[in-house]
Formats: sequence, structure tokens, C-alpha cells
Amino acid sequence: MGRLEGKVAFITGGARGQGRSHAVRLAQEGADIIVIDACEPQPNVPSPPATEADLAETVRQVEELDRRIVARVADVRVQEQLDAAVADGIAQFGRLDVVSANAGIAMTPALAHMMTDEEFMDMQDVNLAGVWRTAKAAIPQMIEAGNGGSIVLTSSEAGLKGYAHAASYVSAKHGVVGLMRTLAMELAPHMIRVNSIHPTQVDTPMIMNETIMKLFRPDIENPTKEDFAEASQHTNLLPIPWVEAVDISNALLFLASDEARYITGVTLPVDAGCFLK
Ligand SMILES: NC(=O)c1ccc[n+]([C@@H]2O[C@H](COP(=O)([O-])OP(=O)(O)OC[C@H]3O[C@@H](n4cnc5c(N)ncnc54)[C@H](O)[C@@H]3O)[C@@H](O)[C@H]2O)c1
Repeated sequence: MGRLEGKVAFITGGARGQGRSHAVRLAQEGADIIVIDACEPQPNVPSPPATEADLAETVRQVEELDRRIVARVADVRVQEQLDAAVADGIAQFGRLDVVSANAGIAMTPALAHMMTDEEFMDMQDVNLAGVWRTAKAAIPQMIEAGNGGSIVLTSSEAGLKGYAHAASYVSAKHGVVGLMRTLAMELAPHMIRVNSIHPTQVDTPMIMNETIMKLFRPDIENPTKEDFAEASQHTNLLPIPWVEAVDISNALLFLASDEARYITGVTLPVDAGCFLK
């Protein structure tokens, strides 16, 4: 308890999945939270959209821990909305120490040469430019405050390896690594650390849907979660099909905390050994 006492964290994509888990886990350790989510359908996405009710549930869970939270509907494709959410949060909490650029979308699987220009570019707009805009909303405030800080960009195993039928996603997630390395260099003089996290499959709505299950089990007409688990497990070294959202939250917590005070520029896999497969 208390590893982030007195700190404030800004989390994108916090209505559900990993983002909600991040908000709750950081709040458990004493942080106040600024959270945003688009809460509306995203382009070419196989999972149902998060809703404002989902975002309200994140607020409820954080407040239940007696932590404060500012939640706004905002899209990482729109800089002004991110800037406004950060400004609101800082006005209420007085500081900003941690950024989790977590919001992201999956793609409708297709061979690279069959993807439309729109599909490819929409993905870059959310999963790469959205991460850049999130950092951009926070960096000037963090530099001016002079307290240092930790920025954590959510990439993926797909930011370290290629995957067929996922060129748009793989390209964006590799791009996040380049952005992370650049920001780590630019912000080091301000004691602001920048790292990326690379999850294997995580049990969230992003992958627990028919389209992604069929990508893993093209041999089955209507794959169940158990069918998916069998194939998913083959991608990991450890004999598990996927990790839980809290496993990613714990990695974020470590990178956000003073325990990682001299760690910057690192690509941290939370991947059950997937990278070595
Ligand atoms: N689930 C996995 O297997 C997995 C694996 C590796 C990496 N990731 C990455 O982890 C991150 C979190 O995903 P998740 O698993 O929690 O999925 P999720 O779909 O449950 O949550 C993603 C959240 O981001 C929000 N979002 C999407 N586009 C947005 C936009 N334009 N502006 C603001 N919010 C937006 C969604 O509304 C949703 O609440 C993503 O960046 C994803 O690419 C996921």
C-alpha cells in the first residue's frame, strides 16, 4: 500500500479492460486519477464499444477506495479533448506525476495488401498518434511542475514481433516503441522517465470477441472461449492462454513508482514468454 501516495495519474481508455484495472490498481496505492475514454464506437473494431456506464463504473470503483477521480469522455484522436481533461484534473488535484497511454483498438484481421487505406490510417490515428497526443497533453505540465514523473506507453507483443493479418496494428505498436525511445531521450533532463509495456493476450473485451477468436481458431466455425484458450496458449512459453488485466497494471505500477526511479527507455514484456516463441 502507498507506493503512489500523493501522486496523480492520467490514464486513457479507462472505461473498461486494462485501463479500468490501471485506475483501480494505482488508486489502491494512493494515487488520484484522471481518466478519459471515448465511450463510442471506434473505426473497424471487432469488439463492442465501451460506454459511459462503463466509465461511471470505473469512477465508482476508484471512489470506493476513497481516492479522487476526474473522468471525462474524450477521444485520443482529438488533442483539445485530451488537453481539457488534463487541465481539469490538474485544476482539481494540483499535479500530474504518471501517464498511462493505454487507449487502443484492435483491427479487423486482413492481409496487409487487402487492407484499405482508411483501415490502416484509422489505426495509426488511435494506436500511435493517440499515444503521442496523450503524451503531448501531459508533458508541458510535467516539465513546468519540475517533479519528474513516469510516462508508460502501452504497446503489445505486436510492438516487438510481426503478426500476419495485423499489419496496421503491428505497425502502430512498433511505432509506439520509437516514440517511447524518443520521449525517453527528450525528457530525461527533466527526470521524466518513459517506458513501454508489451502484453501478450490479455483477458479483456478487445480479444474476447468472435472476430479475434476466429483469427486464432480459423478451423472452427464458432469457437468458444475454451477453443480460443487452447490456441492462445500455444503463443506463450508459460502454459497459460492469456494474462489478466491486473498483471499489466502491476507492471505499470512498478514503472510508475519510485522503485523504478532509474528505469527509462525500456520495453517491458508482460508476455508469459511469448517473445521467445
Ligand atoms: N487485450 C489484449 O490482448 C492486448 C494485448 C496487447 C496489447 N493490448 C493493448 O492494451 C490496451 C488496452 O486494451 P484492452 O485490452 O484494455 O482493450 P479494451 O477494448 O477493453 O479497452 C480499450 C479502451 O480504450 C478505449 N478507446 C479506444 N479507442 C479510443 C479513442 N480513440 N479514444 C479514447 N479511448 C479509446 C475503448 O473505449 C476502451 O475502453 C490497448 O492499447 C491494446 O492495444 C491489448
